[in-house]
Amino acid sequence: MKKILSLLVASILLIIIVIGSGAYNMAATEKHWGITEKIIEWVRENSIEARAKNLEVPPLDSAELLSKGAEHYSAMCTICHLAPGLEPTELSIGLYPQAPIFHQQAPISDPMVQSNRAKEYFWVIKNGLKMTAMPAWGLSHDDDTIWAMTAFILEISDMTPKQYENLIQSAGNHSNDHSNHH
Ligand code: HEC
Repeated sequence: MKKILSLLVASILLIIIVIGSGAYNMAATEKHWGITEKIIEWVRENSIEARAKNLEVPPLDSAELLSKGAEHYSAMCTICHLAPGLEPTELSIGLYPQAPIFHQQAPISDPMVQSNRAKEYFWVIKNGLKMTAMPAWGLSHDDDTIWAMTAFILEISDMTPKQYENLIQSAGNHSNDHSNHH
């Protein structure tokens, strides 16, 4: 028992000395090992699911909500997540982990999966994600606006640049005060 304990203490000390020497490379260009990536993904997915699962999803299918979401998305999110018709940006290229490109993802048809995805997206947009560059938009935006962006992201798959432009424009036609803020 004593032997195991001293071995454990010695290992911890060794880890502290190695990390303290600066051996670990924090560069965004230095990718995680496959196993580290899997662990981070597992932690993230369980953490988000546990916090999002009891959220109530409001109706997300109104045209006005969609265009409100598109307008906010185009003002705040495309620099990292891009949008139909946009090329990768200098910022998006440098991110690690990379931001998902929503319009290139397959559409979700199962309503159950869609509802769970809506909860998870809402939670992430509102609270952000540690050590990823994904900001917490809930500090500056109300829940209605965050649901609008959630609704929009769920509809962005396979959207053409023209449809995207039209949605943003139709938001401008509603008497929306967003352009005053961004
Ligand atoms: C500075 C870059 C940046 C900006 C700006 C940004 N995001 Fe993100 N976002 C990220 C990154 C990076 C991730 C991936 C994090 C990860 O892999 O854990 C992410 C993840 C997400 C996710 C989770 C996706 C998933 O599959 O679980 C959602 C939803 C999201 N962002 C929505 C938004 C919205 C909406 C906006 C604008 C209001 C926005 N993001 C602005 C960088 C950004």
